[in-house]
Amino acid sequence: MTTGAGCRVRVPATTANLGPGFDCLGMALDLWNDVRFSLEGDGVRVTMAGEYGESLPTDETNLVARSFLRLYEEAGAAPPADLTIDCDVRVPPSSGLGSSAAAAVAGLLGANTLLGRPFDRAGVLELAAAIDGHPDNVAATLLGGLTIVVRKEERLLTKKILVPEAHVALAVPALAFSTRAARAGLPTQVSMKDAVFNLGRTPLVVEALRTGDFELLSQVMEDRLHQAARLKLIPGGRAAWVAAQQAGAAAVAISGSGPSLIAFVSLATDALRVARAMAEAFGGMGVVAQPLGLSVSAGGATVVA
Ligand code: HSE
Repeated sequence: MTTGAGCRVRVPATTANLGPGFDCLGMALDLWNDVRFSLEGDGVRVTMAGEYGESLPTDETNLVARSFLRLYEEAGAAPPADLTIDCDVRVPPSSGLGSSAAAAVAGLLGANTLLGRPFDRAGVLELAAAIDGHPDNVAATLLGGLTIVVRKEERLLTKKILVPEAHVALAVPALAFSTRAARAGLPTQVSMKDAVFNLGRTPLVVEALRTGDFELLSQVMEDRLHQAARLKLIPGGRAAWVAAQQAGAAAVAISGSGPSLIAFVSLATDALRVARAMAEAFGGMGVVAQPLGLSVSAGGATVVA
């Protein structure tokens, strides 16, 4: 049993793709998990609290703990004999809101801090992407705001785009969903026409968000690479999508690989109203969904103390 150093890390939820920007656009949302690390206790111990804490493992399969220990290994440090990780989980897991990226980044930043920062941000980004497998979520988790990420040979190239305050409505359906399954249903080849369709719209989505131009956003947040196939896997998804449009949302997309839907609204006061309209539509199809009204977070993961 030891008592020792500690730190606290806050990590945001993220939404990936934003319609046409499949696997390259991500955005941080103002919904946070809070994780406290202490080099004390008796062996490795993980505790869970918060709305979604109960659904996550506290044994050696816990992703925060695995990511923490992975960074020690990568840094060539011996794993700590005693480690307590207290997680307060508000980002819903398996929902398309980057909960795995948030867990990986939290574990890595916690370990990096306690080891005196052997890795810079780029190093943490690479490790988190290797663990999570989704650089678009990981980049937005770490950097905050709107992020673009591409793989350039062996490394990831990221760019954060400063965006004005923006508000989103989310419906988070209670459906067992895995990104792996949602990717397995995607075509392995696409037509030149569909590629060009997305290619033109992706920078326009970035420009619309950068300038707060929701009129432009309403015209260009469309996709021909992944959403149609995925929407078929989300019971009630089509009805919720239409409900968001009827409630006045400027644009709708599947959040990441789903099953949550995200809608962009011009006013903060519209966010929860549109979210409820989507949740009701899910409900009408027999699927319980949680409505959330959120803002875009300009900041990303932070080490608090
Ligand atoms: N870009 C990834 C996908 C995000 O759509 O599968 C996963 O959250």
